[in-house]
Amino acid sequence: MSFVRRSPRMNASQAMAWERWHTRYLVPGLPRLDAGLKRAPRNPRDEPGLPVAAVQLAPQPPLDLEALFGRTAPLGVEIGSGSGENLAAVAAARPGWNLLGFEVYEKALASTMGRLAKQDADFVKLICADGVGGLELLLEPGSVAEVWTYFPDPWHKARHHKRRLISPDFAALVASRLAPGGRWRLATDWDDYADAIAEVLAGCPGLTDEYAGQATPRPPERSRTKFERRGLDAGRTIHEFSWIKATPEMGQTRTQSAGTAVSGRFGASGIEFVPQSGSLPDSGVADGVGQTRSQSAGTAVSGRFGASGIEFVPESGSPRCAEVPR
Ligand SMILES: C[S@@+](CC[C@H](N)C(=O)[O-])C[C@H]1O[C@@H](n2cnc3c(N)ncnc32)[C@H](O)[C@@H]1O
Repeated sequence: MSFVRRSPRMNASQAMAWERWHTRYLVPGLPRLDAGLKRAPRNPRDEPGLPVAAVQLAPQPPLDLEALFGRTAPLGVEIGSGSGENLAAVAAARPGWNLLGFEVYEKALASTMGRLAKQDADFVKLICADGVGGLELLLEPGSVAEVWTYFPDPWHKARHHKRRLISPDFAALVASRLAPGGRWRLATDWDDYADAIAEVLAGCPGLTDEYAGQATPRPPERSRTKFERRGLDAGRTIHEFSWIKATPEMGQTRTQSAGTAVSGRFGASGIEFVPQSGSLPDSGVADGVGQTRSQSAGTAVSGRFGASGIEFVPESGSPRCAEVPR
């Protein structure tokens, strides 16, 4: 479990936004594992009567997206949408998209509703539930155009690492829900989490780095949330990731010999190589020999080359990233 739920107490404007807008934005009627449980307010200042939803969804059929949104459009899904800054910004920038946000924290959902209502955003739906179970149960494989996980798990103590959201299983789940060519965008302000995310992504069959190892630009429509600002104010670097669900004919390749490396993406129109400059990790390869790795949907090959040509070693399913059954 990657989240901690806190007090359900809302401030007055959040309580008002919830009351006024939950029927417009919240997806109703999703069976929960502990549906029916009512938790008493933890202290007398907690708003009485506010719903304390159970966050784990029970097994149920996937959502009928066309019925939910009243139209067919590319679907963007945010896991951990917080106060809704990104959802609101994307809703304004991409009026032709349907958007779905998963968030477990009711106060944050109430703020999101207020924000969306202010800009009269339609085609955004919110689900108060664990987004991992939500992605798995409610969305069919290949049905999502983009997934966003921005600034997940703001805790950085080692004892918190085991419940981090971004794991090999979660990556496999995201990859399975993305449509071919779909995109998963992530950001974190913690260097060690960025390293862990990079490793998870690289080990996930079917995902390919949109920027082929080069710096990933910040998505232009994302507004600076409290969590991004907090990282920047503390002098931390924001690490961005954008990985694409490969189509069978799409992939990426990286070739390295002593002192130089090139990365490239390939697709129907051929290979586009991006030379990599700057300091390279010590590959341990001597002059005159090199290493190469190419990856496309579901397969990868690695090879070593020298004067006598390339010797390829096919890689079978990465043990770090389990396949999610379709
Ligand atoms: C650090 S905040 C970041 C919020 C937002 N993405 C942003 O950039 O401002 C992480 C949010 O993810 C939510 N969250 C964490 N794990 C979740 C999960 N498994 N499903 C849904 N929401 C989750 C938390 O409640 C919290 O609001």
